[in-house]
Amino acid sequence: MRLDLVSIFPDYFAPLQLSLVGKAIAAGTVGLGVHDLRRWTHDRHHTVDDTPYGGGAGMVMKPEPWGAALDELCTPETTLVVPSPSGDRFRQPDAYALAEAGHLVFACGRYEGIDARVVQHARARMTVRELSLGDYVLNGGEVAALVMIEAIVRLLPGVIGNPESLTEESHSQGHDGLLEYPVFTKPPSWRGLDVPEVLFSGHHARIAEWRREQAIELTRRRRPDLLG
Ligand code: ADE
Repeated sequence: MRLDLVSIFPDYFAPLQLSLVGKAIAAGTVGLGVHDLRRWTHDRHHTVDDTPYGGGAGMVMKPEPWGAALDELCTPETTLVVPSPSGDRFRQPDAYALAEAGHLVFACGRYEGIDARVVQHARARMTVRELSLGDYVLNGGEVAALVMIEAIVRLLPGVIGNPESLTEESHSQGHDGLLEYPVFTKPPSWRGLDVPEVLFSGHHARIAEWRREQAIELTRRRRPDLLG
């Protein structure tokens, strides 16, 4: 997979060199390009924003630098991801779908957002996903892009050592979309708290049943919306 990230704060993406994503880049599973949007400005001050038509607070990102950046980086086969609090909610199925793409470009806006014509223009030329992490507002798309990239890249073949951990975890397809059951390791008793007896039984069916009950109960309590 090829990833191209466009931002006025390219340093935000330094953590991608760490841990599993960093290893996927080093191994060539992921090709990464980080681009400063100001590279596509031509004035002395490298201006990327201007006041909003119609008035209102804050600044809007100008369409010209974004248009030039996307012209250079995208092809008709690209999937353009635009993190935005007004986007569709990013969920695990979106991570699976985006992990199938060969080329993702993340357009990370700041201020009050990017001039709407940029996405309108791109939609006629490639697949575009405007995606929100949740019902809160971040200062820009960079942190949202980091979150989505981690969720996507860990699904690529070979990135996670034991692929079984992908099917057992919360929100995974193999887990009926339930939250994950609680997990324990040694010691068997810690600060007066004991590991549930059933987990020492060696009885795989009973353990699986207990875990499923725990997952359903936890989901009912915390995320009843997931039970459908
Ligand atoms: N940019 C600002 N807030 C955001 C959010 N909640 N999700 C995605 N991108 C954002």
